[in-house]
Amino acid sequence: MAVLITGGAGFIGSHTAVEFLNAGYDIVIMDNFCNSKPVVLEKIKEITGKDFKFYKADLLDTASMDRIFEENPDIDSVIHFAGLKAVGESVAKPREYYHNNVTGTLNLCDSMTRHGVKTIVFSSSATVYGDPDVVPIKETARVGNATNPYGETKVMIERILKDIYVSDKEWNISILRYFNPIGAHKSGLMGEDPNGIPNNLMPYITKVAMGKLPVLHVFGNDYDTHDGTGVRDYIHVVDLAKAHLKALQYIEKAHGIDYFNIGTGKGYSVLDIVKAYKEATGIEIKYQIDPRRPGDIAACYADPTKAREMLGWVAENGIFEMCRDANNWQQKNPNGYEE
Ligand code: NAD
Ligand code: WQD
Repeated sequence: MAVLITGGAGFIGSHTAVEFLNAGYDIVIMDNFCNSKPVVLEKIKEITGKDFKFYKADLLDTASMDRIFEENPDIDSVIHFAGLKAVGESVAKPREYYHNNVTGTLNLCDSMTRHGVKTIVFSSSATVYGDPDVVPIKETARVGNATNPYGETKVMIERILKDIYVSDKEWNISILRYFNPIGAHKSGLMGEDPNGIPNNLMPYITKVAMGKLPVLHVFGNDYDTHDGTGVRDYIHVVDLAKAHLKALQYIEKAHGIDYFNIGTGKGYSVLDIVKAYKEATGIEIKYQIDPRRPGDIAACYADPTKAREMLGWVAENGIFEMCRDANNWQQKNPNGYEE
């Protein structure tokens, strides 16, 4: 039996591939490299000492998707990461985001159906909660009103998966709503490698730590939070990867569709992260306070009780390890995956 990992060359997919290989699973990875590089596949093999099949393929290419299932009849489940994820870009290019993420997922589900594969773990996001009424957020919180097209694609895909399950109860679906994944594999061989100037906090900080960017722009210090800066639930990417193992093991036993918050349950402000980075690495991050970033919310953190009780999953790493490992990756790979 094998697991197909879509988007397995990406940040979270590559770390998940390592955890699945280490746990003894056979995997097949597919990716079109629109936001990743082939060399990551070598890193996965180097870390695990294991081999796997890879397809350079696009979710939107139905024939290629069918070929993967035809050539690998042992695939009996899918971990679905492939998608576009940049919030700002999604505002500028909504059609591209809806097409790639929503049509891409429909194509995948069609291909799965044609090949009798009905088990899927889907990468959703805390963004489906929009601006939450209360924190910490439980899975029962209102979903919808995402603040951008990217977030809407996640809301739509969650809805599509639910309707697929309603139409055919043989499907096993686990929807993981990630909070803010950061950090890197502790080997320093894999990590987050955004193109251009990073949009997200941690990759921006690691570039400031390297001296590649002069200063961190803190987007607003007038939020209703303990120090006025935005509060988020940061989760180590290796803990997140392990949550996929637990989720798949759970749905292998129980039919149905279920939703899980994957976060630590702790909220850290931007300035808390700057402080933690110094404690973990010794590096002082120079920052300046700038205006709020449009679309940002004050605070967003998980109640991860359900994942603990039903999946037996808890985050093992804290903010210290997240900062340490993100910094280690960046220092060892100043240009990311580029040689
Ligand atoms: P990533 O961009 O590093 O990985 C996504 C991978 O999918 C990339 O390798 C990309 O090349 C591939 N891909 C995109 N469209 C494709 C297509 N049509 N066909 C084949 N491959 C395609 O992103 P990530 O951070 O690893 O995120 C993985 C998933 O988790 C995404 O669905 C993302 O929306 C979701 N997510 C990410 C975060 C985050 O902050 N990183 C938070 C919540 C949810
Ligand atoms: C974190 C905090 C910023 C950069 C995004 C997506 C979300 C999910 C995770 C996929 C905020 C502040 C940031 C900077 C700053 N992705 N910040 N200076 O916005 O919580 O979530 O990634 O699903 O959908 O929206 O993450 O890392 O961009 O921001 O002050 O240069 O850091 O204002 O308070 P965010 P982030």
